[in-house]
This record gives sequence, C-alpha cells and structure tokens, in this order.
Amino acid sequence: MLGLETSCDETSAAVLDYTPDAPPILRSLVILSQDIHAVFGGVVPELASRAHLEAVGPVVKRALADAGTSLDDIEGVAVTAGPGLVGALLVGLMYGKTLAWSRRLPFIGVNHLEGHIFAPALEDPALEPPFVALLVSGGHTLLLDVADWGRYRLVGRTLDDAAGEAFDKVAKLLGLAYPGGPAIERLSARGQAGQFTLPRPMLGELRGGGPNQYNFSFSGLKTAVRRAVQQSDDLERDRAGIARAFQDAAVDVLTTKTAHLVEALGYRTAIIGGGVACNAALAAALRDKLAGVARVSVASARLNTDNAAMIAAAGAWRLARGERSTPSLEPRDDLPIPGLSDGAAHP
Ligand code: KG4
Ligand code: ZN
Repeated sequence: MLGLETSCDETSAAVLDYTPDAPPILRSLVILSQDIHAVFGGVVPELASRAHLEAVGPVVKRALADAGTSLDDIEGVAVTAGPGLVGALLVGLMYGKTLAWSRRLPFIGVNHLEGHIFAPALEDPALEPPFVALLVSGGHTLLLDVADWGRYRLVGRTLDDAAGEAFDKVAKLLGLAYPGGPAIERLSARGQAGQFTLPRPMLGELRGGGPNQYNFSFSGLKTAVRRAVQQSDDLERDRAGIARAFQDAAVDVLTTKTAHLVEALGYRTAIIGGGVACNAALAAALRDKLAGVARVSVASARLNTDNAAMIAAAGAWRLARGERSTPSLEPRDDLPIPGLSDGAAHP
C-alpha cells in the first residue's frame, strides 16, 4: 500500500504491508516538513502548494526505496482528500490519482482525521475498538466514541479555537517560534506549577450534563494568557510560568472530559491522536486520570503529526472492505469523517 499526505505543510509518503485482520506493518515513512512557513509565523497556503509540487515525486521515490520496493509491488494507493488546504490537498490527490490510473491500481481518498484515529494502531497491534478518541490537531478538537473502525460518534468538539491552534496562538503571545506546541511544552518544563492560575473553560459544564458537557472552548483561555502577558512587568521572568499555566489548564480540560466519557461509556481503552498528542504532559495526565480504568494508546511523535503512514493504514482498511474512490474525486477543506454520526453531547 502506498500512502500520500499533503493536506498542510508536510509532504509525506509511506509504504505499508497490509493483510486484513492482521496488524499493519510499516515498511517506510518519509516526512518532509516545509521550513519556509516558520519565517511567516504560520502556514502560507500558496507556498505550501508550491513546495508540495516540488517535493511529492522525490518523497514517493524515497519512500519506495526505503521500503526496498518499487511501484511494481504496490497494490493500492491511498491519498488524503480532506480536510486541509485545498491547494495543498490537490497536489497529493492529483499525483496519487494519476499514479493509480496509469498503473491500474485501486485508489482511495482518505479523510485526514480518520487517519489520525488509525495512527496508534501502527505501533499498538492490540488496539481494538471500542475506544474513546481525543483528536487534537492544529485545525480540530474532537471527542469521539469509536464503537468500531469506521463507526464514529461525535460526542464533543471545540466551539472556537482548536487545541493546537490555542498552543500556536499562545506561543505567539509569548514570543515563541511557530509551531507553538513543542515550544510551549519545552518552556513549560521550566515553569513552576501554580505560579499563575488560568481558567478551565467549560470544565464546569461536565457535571451539569448540558449541551456543552463534552465540548471545549479555548479562546477565553488565550485571552487570559494575553492579559497575564500584559500585566507582567518582567516577561523574561514570567514566560515559563505563564506557558506552564496555559498547558496545565488546556491539559486539565482535555483529559478530565475524555476520562469522564471513557467512564460513562464503560470503555477500557482511550486514544489520543493529532499533533497535540505529541505533548507528553497530555498523555501522562490522561493515563493518570484513567489509571486502573482504561489504557491510553498514543503513537510516537512521528505518527501523531501529519504523516502518510496513518493515511495508508486508514486507506488500506477501506480498500480491503471493497471501497474505491473514482478519478473524479476532488479535495475538500470540509470533508466529513465517513461513518460519523452526531451524537450530541450525551454518551
Ligand atoms: O496534526 P497536526 O500535525 O496538523 C494538523 O492536522 O493540524 O497538528 C499540528 C498541531 C500544531 O498546532 C502544533 O502546535 C501542535 O499540533 N503540536 C503540539 C505539540 N506538537 C505539535 N501541541 C502541544 N504540544 C506538543 N508537543
Ligand atoms: Zn493532522
């Protein structure tokens, strides 16, 4: 299986061995991160598309070489079709469609978020639904009840900023480089817990069982950070403490709601996926809250940030079920997760 991912600022290709009902085996994974965006403090869509265009061919070649294989041995092609930047998605999708068509190979467009759900399975062969999935990336924050692969129920989501977006914006307020998540995590390690206290937005709603019981909101937290920065008379001194307070607040809200849902559903497993899942404090806090209740499966950093291995895994699973995409498939920035039902806030 050849996987391709170009939804944002990573050009990635992967080769995966896949047999139904057996754990997938990752043969190679190449991720080329586009450094150019660091200059602008955020992803510039037009630049991302151009960089994908230059990189996609060599990245695929490299993934095949790293796997010790060639196109002759590839039996299926999976490409991210959305959500993401349409111009960026288009590059990978056109490349994958053309490759599949010219070689008469089965082809499938994959939802990027479903890819993040499949990522932990690449390193955790025992991972099986049902489980609760907390998906936290730069663009999305979703709390899902995963009854089975391909059967997802949306239980909670963010009402404003995504979790990763909040990390990135707070990093900017603190004068840190993009992407902000890793910078905040590093700085937090030097900050003292409790030096600053920030609000836990929507945490109070958990008890009431109302419509926002499992929803999130991060824009108020970001505003509270801005106020703390403005009120500081020595940001050099306070920067690490503020970063720590922000991370503690975000982690607290995310893990408390996720753990609550796991217990409400009586599940024994939870996963965290998406770029923010790289945050070690987040995984540690969820494991702590679910100790003796459920195990928490989190992939390594390479598989949590955007990568083609997770796209190959989700695509292989769908191809094995007989699903195919047609050559007319277009990229969509708002592509819905297949098999997703909106379960409102109640488990
Ligand atoms: O899944 P991803 O690679 O791309 C999207 O699909 O959005 O997620 C990127 C996001 C960025 O907002 C980045 O700041 C965040 O993941 N992130 C982190 C960490 N590493 C990456 N956030 C918190 N702590 C980290 N260690
Ligand atoms: Zn992502």
